Amino acid sequence: MAKNALPDHVAVIMDGNGRWAKKRGLPRAFGHREGVATVKKIVTHAAESGVKVLSMFAFSAENWLRPAEEVGFLMKLLDDYIASESRLMMENNIRFLVSGRTEMVPERTGKALRELSALSSGNTGMTLNLLISYGAKDELADAVRHIARDAAEGRLNWRDVDGALIRSRLYNPELPDVDLLIRTSGEHRISNFMLWRIAYAELYFTDILWPDFSEKDFDAALEDFAGRVRRFGKTDEQMENRG
Ligand code: IPE
Ligand code: IPE
Ligand code: MG
Repeated sequence: MAKNALPDHVAVIMDGNGRWAKKRGLPRAFGHREGVATVKKIVTHAAESGVKVLSMFAFSAENWLRPAEEVGFLMKLLDDYIASESRLMMENNIRFLVSGRTEMVPERTGKALRELSALSSGNTGMTLNLLISYGAKDELADAVRHIARDAAEGRLNWRDVDGALIRSRLYNPELPDVDLLIRTSGEHRISNFMLWRIAYAELYFTDILWPDFSEKDFDAALEDFAGRVRRFGKTDEQMENRG
């Protein structure tokens, strides 16, 4: 069986910051701070590895339900991250995108996100897709609302609604489907993440808490992916003949 090449699109559910801090008797904020350091390492490493798109789940639609103090701290970390990483992204030719209902983040944060997206829009290296205030059900609801409006206003015929049309209304529609989804911290669930685009993703779960996740661990996930048999509903024989 032919081995898989490098995945084009790797997505990461970065989980376990709170538990990392708790294990050390520290407040959760320390885990989040350490988690940002891991984000920086993994973004650089993924870009060097030749991955085309890296999607990072940073803050979910449901995470707004956390204590206000923690939410505020996470937004502040996001501000600091953008401020400290803009230059590196430009130097490394990384295109920065955001997916999610960013109208809900503080104005200064939204502005920083928009500015970095605009500044890096011409970069041709890896795309970093940061998911903030993101929920897959919201994304699908937003897509359906746009389609319904276009149908109601006569811009499209309801008979033309198909998978390709729905896909074209997702956030950042040019992004391909996810090939490899990594979740850290031992949780075996999806938590409302990119439901449409993970339809045929290979899933990789590790017990490592996000702040401890290293470049080596990322490589281990890529290696595991390389050994997977992807059939997309077909038979092994068809895949061997590329039928
Ligand atoms: C992931 O770590 C970061 C975010 C969800 C923002 P958690 O904060 O969920 O850490 P645990 O799951 O409580 O350990
Ligand atoms: C998922 O982690 C969201 C992010 C990693 C940003 P959570 O820690 O919020 O997920 P649940 O609630 O345990 O499923
Ligand atoms: Mg968690």
